[in-house]
Order: sequence, then structure tokens, then C-alpha cells
Amino acid sequence: MNIQVVYGTISGHSRKIAKAIADALNAGCEDIKNNPMLTGVDLLFVIGGVYGSKYNEKIVAYMENINANQVKKVALIRSAVSQTAIQKENPLVELLQKKQIEVEKEEYTCRGSFLFMGCGHPNKAEIEKAVQFAKRVAASKMIGPKIQQAFTEYLK
Ligand SMILES: Cc1cc2nc3c(=O)[nH]c(=O)nc-3n(C[C@H](O)[C@H](O)[C@H](O)COP(=O)(O)O)c2cc1C
Repeated sequence: MNIQVVYGTISGHSRKIAKAIADALNAGCEDIKNNPMLTGVDLLFVIGGVYGSKYNEKIVAYMENINANQVKKVALIRSAVSQTAIQKENPLVELLQKKQIEVEKEEYTCRGSFLFMGCGHPNKAEIEKAVQFAKRVAASKMIGPKIQQAFTEYLK
């Protein structure tokens, strides 16, 4: 399975998260500022910060040029100082669905910082949680939805 990680970052938080995930999954890792060309990607992790309550707009612009022939499924990770960012709509979800690219239902928010707020975040433990999220998503993609459903039924 071809797993890739792309990120956009202003203060470097998303880069740290992206590199940790790519290392753990043995995946490629690219900054969207280099406009990476994606081909035959089964699972793409997209990682970016929240600015003025909006997902990094450069990532949204980059994803506008990606189609379902290049990427089958996307999992989104946000870096944000506020955990309420979790409840806010991410414009990327609608954009990807319109392109018929599958989007992982769970979106992960990794705590970041803004001036004195959240100083020192994301820390090691938070990055590790993002890695665990990525491993879960990758594992569920590998075993496939049918086996996953059977497994869920079995656990009930
Ligand atoms: C100008 C500015 C605006 C921000 N706006 C928000 C915001 O609206 N909501 C939020 O949760 N975090 C906000 N943050 C915090 C960033 O989302 C956080 O630092 C994030 O980790 C940045 O990720 P990056 O370094 O990968 O770009 C803001 C940070 C800056 C510098």
C-alpha cells in the first residue's frame, strides 16, 4: 500500500507531526510548498495548522489540483491551539468528497501554540498520539472495510 504524507506549515508544527508519522509508517513526506506530484497514493495524510479559524489555505489550494486517480483516500490532521477547532468544518472535506476522494471520518487535532497560549505544544506525547492515530487509520485501510466490520461485530 502506497502511503504518503504532505504538510503545509508556518511555524513548523505540522512538519514535526508529518515527519513523525512518515517515519513511523515508512512513508514519503513532502512540504506542499514544493508542489509535490502525487501518483498512485492509496492513503494520504494531510497535515496543516489553523489560522483565523481556517485550515491552512495553501493546503486547500494545493489539494484543489489533486484528483481521485492520484489519491484514493485522505486522512486529515490539524495543528491548532484550540481544541474547539475539532468541531469546526474543514473545507477540505467537502472539496475532497466532490472529487470522490474518500475521506477518513475521524479527523485528528494535535495541539499547537499561539504566542503564550499552548506554549511548548505540540509536545512529544501529542506527536506520539498523532502517530498512533495515523497507525490506526493505516491499519484499517490495510485490513479493508469488510474484515474491519467483521472484527467490530466480533468485538460487540
Ligand atoms: C496568526 C495566527 C493565527 C492563529 N489562529 C488560530 C485559530 O484561529 N485557531 C487555533 O486553534 N489556532 C490558531 N493559531 C495557532 C496555530 O494553528 C498553531 O500554532 C499551529 O500549530 C500552527 O501550525 P503550523 O506551524 O504547522 O502552521 C494561530 C496562529 C497564528 C500565528
